[in-house]
Amino acid sequence: MPQASFIAPVVGREAELARLSEVLQGARAGEARAVLLAGDAGVGKTRVLDEAGKRAAGAGMTVVVGHCVDLGDVGLPYLPFTEILGVLAADERFSAVVAGHPVAERLLGSGTDAVRDVDGRLRLFEGIAGLLAAVADVAPLLLVLEDLHWADQSSRDLLRFLLGRGVLRRRLAVFASYRADDLHRRHPLRPLLAELVRLPAVERLELRPLPDPEVARLVRALERRPLPETTVRRIVERAEGNAFYAEELLAATDTGPAGCRAGSPTCC
Ligand SMILES: Nc1ncnc2c1ncn2[C@@H]1O[C@H](COP(=O)(O)OP(=O)(O)OP(=O)(O)O)[C@@H](O)[C@H]1O
Ligand SMILES: [Mg+2]
Repeated sequence: MPQASFIAPVVGREAELARLSEVLQGARAGEARAVLLAGDAGVGKTRVLDEAGKRAAGAGMTVVVGHCVDLGDVGLPYLPFTEILGVLAADERFSAVVAGHPVAERLLGSGTDAVRDVDGRLRLFEGIAGLLAAVADVAPLLLVLEDLHWADQSSRDLLRFLLGRGVLRRRLAVFASYRADDLHRRHPLRPLLAELVRLPAVERLELRPLPDPEVARLVRALERRPLPETTVRRIVERAEGNAFYAEELLAATDTGPAGCRAGSPTCC
């Protein structure tokens, strides 16, 4: 659920944001690290990453987000990385770096036909690792990869290469989100995650459902008018710690003067 703007301030998530801030601080000091942020759909992964991204940008880091998209079996090769390289290529601070790495042109321009063979792929992966490392030399870099559960094979392979041997030596952090509840037993992301978390510079961070008092705070923050206690309690019960459900339940609740009043039988 990508959001263009947020109407409620971030509720809770202090521990997770503190950990991500520590990782960002380490990255700025040259201690590169990747965090795999796991959580159910709607629990708040994008929101937490957005907040962490703001903190990173505030501390002078370049923040670039690449999204994986649900395209069924078809997939678009390297989609999140193409998005990231596109943003970097458009940023004049990095124009010299990008110009010095023709790999960006290859991925963005002429397509990926030339990279089907093993040698071509290796050169492409090394080229992208080199480009990202050079960008991180200009200014510390945070790469955010959203919705890894939708990543296609080529994007998974590139991520494996980058974290396994590529870029985790520079002023760089990688934060990647995925829906834990989407990973059925044979999901192709599973083996990659198992492999990545064994790397010393990679950690998994679980975003658990919000505690009830925080869902209540979120609901109250989303509604300008004071809400009856029973309405809040009912939404909290049904949302089960899921921020997206809480928003949807609130939207479906009549909070107008004639509708939802404490104790009203029509309430919710
Ligand atoms: N801690 C929070 N404080 C305030 N609002 C939140 C918080 N967590 C999530 N939200 C809001 O709840 C909604 C769902 O959150 P978000 O999009 O981050 O979920 P997600 O885990 O990324 O879901 P998906 O798996 O679908 O991408 C958004 O509108 C978001 O702004
Ligand atoms: Mg999301």
